[in-house]
Amino acid sequence: MEKTLEQISSLCKRRGFIFPSSEIYGGLNGFWDYGPMGAELKRNIRDAWWRFTVQWRDDVVGLDATIIMNPRIWEASGHVGGFADPMVDCKDCKKRHRADQLCEEQGLKLVRDGKAWKLPEGCKCTACGSANLTEPREFNLMFKTYVGPVEDDSSVAYLRPETAQAIFAQFLNIVPTSRKAVPFGVAQSGKSFRNEINPRNYTFRSREFEQMELEFFIRPDEAVELICGHVATLADNPDLSGDPQEDWGWEVWHRYWVEQRLKWYRLAGLPEQDLHLYWQKKDELAHYARACVDIEYAFPFGVQELEGIAARSDFDLTQHQKHSGKSMEVMDDRLRLACAAKSDEEKAEFKAKVVADWTARGKDAAAAEAFCDGLFQGRYVPHVIEPSAGTDRLALALLCNAYDEEKLVDSKGKEDVRTVLRFSPSLAPVKVAVLPLVKNKPELREKARELYRSLRRRWKCAWDETGAIGRRYRRQDEIGTPFCVTVDFDTLGEEHPELKDTVTLRFRDSMEQVRVPISELAAKIDASMEL
Ligand code: GLY
Repeated sequence: MEKTLEQISSLCKRRGFIFPSSEIYGGLNGFWDYGPMGAELKRNIRDAWWRFTVQWRDDVVGLDATIIMNPRIWEASGHVGGFADPMVDCKDCKKRHRADQLCEEQGLKLVRDGKAWKLPEGCKCTACGSANLTEPREFNLMFKTYVGPVEDDSSVAYLRPETAQAIFAQFLNIVPTSRKAVPFGVAQSGKSFRNEINPRNYTFRSREFEQMELEFFIRPDEAVELICGHVATLADNPDLSGDPQEDWGWEVWHRYWVEQRLKWYRLAGLPEQDLHLYWQKKDELAHYARACVDIEYAFPFGVQELEGIAARSDFDLTQHQKHSGKSMEVMDDRLRLACAAKSDEEKAEFKAKVVADWTARGKDAAAAEAFCDGLFQGRYVPHVIEPSAGTDRLALALLCNAYDEEKLVDSKGKEDVRTVLRFSPSLAPVKVAVLPLVKNKPELREKARELYRSLRRRWKCAWDETGAIGRRYRRQDEIGTPFCVTVDFDTLGEEHPELKDTVTLRFRDSMEQVRVPISELAAKIDASMEL
């Protein structure tokens, strides 16, 4: 079925998934709250990502850093100097636009003229049609605040525009305390803030949002070569579904993480045909990135990014090394031992090759030599692969994907439409609804309460004893509850002793109902969870 953002946002409001922030005061553009159901959905996404990325792996640890950090972090990362979008104002209707989006909407491309941006010929205000626009000017997206009582330049701080930087800034504390060696990763999820010029597409581009980021540190290819004698590339057709291998170069690690992240989105329930990979072209890459892939989802408003997976070389740690004056090098025993076994001649030959390679790429020969000398002692600044996902974007993608209106015809030929959210069970806000068939029979109600109390220790459950059972099923369908359990007279076994302690289990997607012993319920529900 064709789905619109209006249908989805209306259900989200009606059933408590998403509300405009501060709505009683007219809201605040670019800010959204998650209601009772949305809070469960987001928590499930975050927890499942953590399990998949940290808990189920040996080579990733976690971090939970502050939102406000020393502002020097953002100087080192380049955000103070360069984290800006080009903005234009319409001089007639006063509407403010992001210049690149304004051009894109008209099939035009914003032009870079030296350091400045220029609007192409024919660009107009999409709100009023006027061509009377200001020149584009850069607008830094970071939210500024002041730490402490004095509001001056020395107390300026920023709300973090990404969670990633804290991982680099805490690298020196994490390495010794986690007892991990490269290759290994650090994951963090949490709030980030960007003062978007033009928030849009519902929650897709918000000013306050949540990220799930992983910085996966790898050896530089030169270190891999010294250890393994060669560096595996994609041309070697590596098996990306198995365990990572020691001879993988950055290109293989990057593709491995793309595959891992695609696996995650499939497990989260997004169908293959709605997921797209966009490989950024050379001229689109940030200056530090060697490659970047966007995983995109076909939203009702177009195909848009869920996650970017960038190969960022040693850019970030090197920047923090420069700005903090602290060495970000690790000691790699495998490398040290491999180099100790090499002759001076082999090392000289290796060094000459690296110097030739670096200088061919416009880098400094002395830096290449110093880098090799470090490698021979087992030292280097790790490189990094960064899968960076938007939690709210995934929540929105899951809502869009799950939304369905199903036409039904009952036994008397009466037509009806059932609204249902087909979430994967692991991410559904409520896993099980326990429904006593009637509420005026105390033994039956108590039996149902007992079951509810036991199931809710493991899963978020709903209790609903009001209204006809069919209506109660529909209420659960609308919030995407995969299982409904009805406790009825037979559960008590008064008339049919063989049915004692059995319940009706109703499946959301097929609406099929089966009779199940209470003792088998938990295992059945458990078996449906993939994340
Ligand atoms: N760390 C990458 C991003 O926030 O987009």
